[in-house]
Order: sequence, then structure tokens, then C-alpha cells
Amino acid sequence: MKVLVTGGAGFIGSHVAHELIRQGDDVIVLDNLYQGHREAVHPDATFIEGDLADKSLLDQLFAEHKPDAVMHFASHTLVGESMEKPFLYLRENIVNGLNLLETAVAHGTLKFVLSSTANLFDDPERMPIDEQERIVPGSPYGESKAILERMLHWLDVTKGMKYAALRYFNACGCGLGLGEDHDPETHLIPIVLQVALGQREQITVFGDDYETRDGTCVRDYIHVLDLASAHILALRALDQGSRTYNLGTGNGFTVQEIIETAREVTGHPIPAVAGPRRAGDPATLIASSEKIGRELGWEPRHSDIRSVISDAWEWMSANPQGYGQS
Ligand code: UFG
Repeated sequence: MKVLVTGGAGFIGSHVAHELIRQGDDVIVLDNLYQGHREAVHPDATFIEGDLADKSLLDQLFAEHKPDAVMHFASHTLVGESMEKPFLYLRENIVNGLNLLETAVAHGTLKFVLSSTANLFDDPERMPIDEQERIVPGSPYGESKAILERMLHWLDVTKGMKYAALRYFNACGCGLGLGEDHDPETHLIPIVLQVALGQREQITVFGDDYETRDGTCVRDYIHVLDLASAHILALRALDQGSRTYNLGTGNGFTVQEIIETAREVTGHPIPAVAGPRRAGDPATLIASSEKIGRELGWEPRHSDIRSVISDAWEWMSANPQGYGQS
């Protein structure tokens, strides 16, 4: 299959693009390199540096390459930033996503996999969170993904587009020679490992008075290679219809437990200090992935927390300054 991967130079998109190529698919990567890295693009992929705001570029790309399917990762992705810059998220995630969808439909590309988020569930009634949970976006970022999911629903009804919306919980780990390299870095595991590398003095734990087993937030950490396999299974199942899945492991770890595991993996003391809560952080987010397991036979194979942290540690210690600067 020929697959257009938007954001294919970014953390999750690059892993999925590499895995597609490993499985024999043709990949076109479209990325504006705002957060992505040229070095993360597979050498066998066709790379186009460009922006989804550029409709004539999109038109040309679809006319020339005629992709069978789109996997859409290119997006602003930070909950906190979206609270400070709502228009950035509402405009770029929604309008650029619409440009992509409109061009895909115009060229008859009717298979689409959307990178969605657990930030759809700000006030969950069930834990673990399954696909029946009501959608309550926690930020303009979450809202932008909720709107893209609704657009896909209507394009299925009106144009026959078959889509998979995949809501990830905490993506982490790395593999296939790739890594996680954000600037600025806001995610827990890479920040903890930056302390072990001596790039930060300590980790600040955002709140230790939550109603959890040790007072720190619980999250469901899912290895990016398990996310990649879920994307590809979902892509290949689109002939049987559209689908929405929550993607996690069904297990949660506290911030404190992540720090402890990172101490064991790295042998570094990793000093930690308690700080105030970060605005917008729910106490606990755990996914039920029972549906994708039942329907597609997916199961996480790489997500035990020690492997997640040691895979990330291996890449970060080999590439302490990230891509292109080691
Ligand atoms: N944390 C700290 N200190 C830090 C960084 C993070 O204590 O320096 C804590 C956070 O408060 C949170 C946990 O570590 O409890 C995980 O935080 P991350 O920033 O790594 O991830 P989030 O759970 O905030 O965000 C993730 C994804 C988002 C997605 C969101 C869904 O990165 O894209 O889950 O709620 F939208």
C-alpha cells in the first residue's frame, strides 16, 4: 500500500513510517520539520518538506503520488501550550486537518488513520477508560482532535471515507534506531532521563497530594512500537469499516514509580522535588484497550515499564543532544 504519513519526521509518525516500510509498504512523508527531524525520516521514504496549510502543495502531492491511505500525525500536541495559545491549536490542527481531508477526498483517497488523544477524557466516569466514555476535551488541543474525529464521522457518512481514530494515552519508549526529541521537552520520561544524563539538576514532581497510591499522578505509558503496530493493524482493517480505539496498556504507573524505575535502569540517583500541581492534570488516566484486542488481536508487547525506560535510555545516552547533534 502507498501511505502518506503526515508528521512522519516526528516521534510517533517516524516510528510508524519505519514500521510500514519494514512491512513492505511505500511511504511518503510530509513534514514541515517544526518539531520533526530530517534524520528521523526513513531513507526509503519519499520526503516532502511542506506544510498542511499549503493547499496547492497538497493537491500536487496527491496528484503525483496517489496515496492509497493517509496517516495523519502532523499536529501541535501539547495540552498546556494549547491553553496559552488556543488559536494556534484551533486554527492549525483543525484547519490544516480539514485541508488534508478535503484534498484526500477530492483525489479519491478514502482511507485515513487519525492520531487522536486521551485528552478527550477530562472527566472520565469509568477507569480504565473505554470507547463508550463520553467525550469531554480537556483543552483546545483535545477539542481540535475531537473535531477531527467528528469530521471523519461525517466524511464516512457522506463520502464513504473509512477511518480509524486512535486515542493514545502516554506514548513513550523508542525503537528501530529512532528516538524521542522534542524542543522544548515536556514529557515525564525524557525529562527524568535528562536528569540522569546530567542535563537537568532534578525532576520536579507536579503535585504529590492526588488521590492515588503515593499521591502522584497515574498514567498509562504505551510503548511507541506498540502504537505503531496498532496503527498498521487498524490501517489494514479499514476495508471492513471505520473504527475508534483507545490505546494503552490497562495499567497505570505513578510519577514516583516512573522515577524509581528510571533510577534502577540508569543507576543514577535522579533527585526529585515535589512542586505544585500542573494545571489541567487529571489524577489518573488509564486506557482500556480491550476493544482493539478483541477486534484486531492487538496486544502491547513492548510496554512493560522497565523496557520502555531502558529503550528510551539507550537512545538518549547514545544521542544526548538528540537528532543530528550527537
Ligand atoms: N510530570 C511531572 N514533572 C514533569 C513532567 C511531567 O511531574 O516535569 C507529570 C505530569 O504532571 C503527569 C505525568 O508526569 O502527571 C505525565 O506527564 P506528561 O507531560 O509526560 O504527559 P501527560 O499525561 O500530561 O500528556 C499526555 C500526552 C498528551 C495527551 C495527554 C492526554 O503527552 O499529548 O497525555 O491527557 F494529550
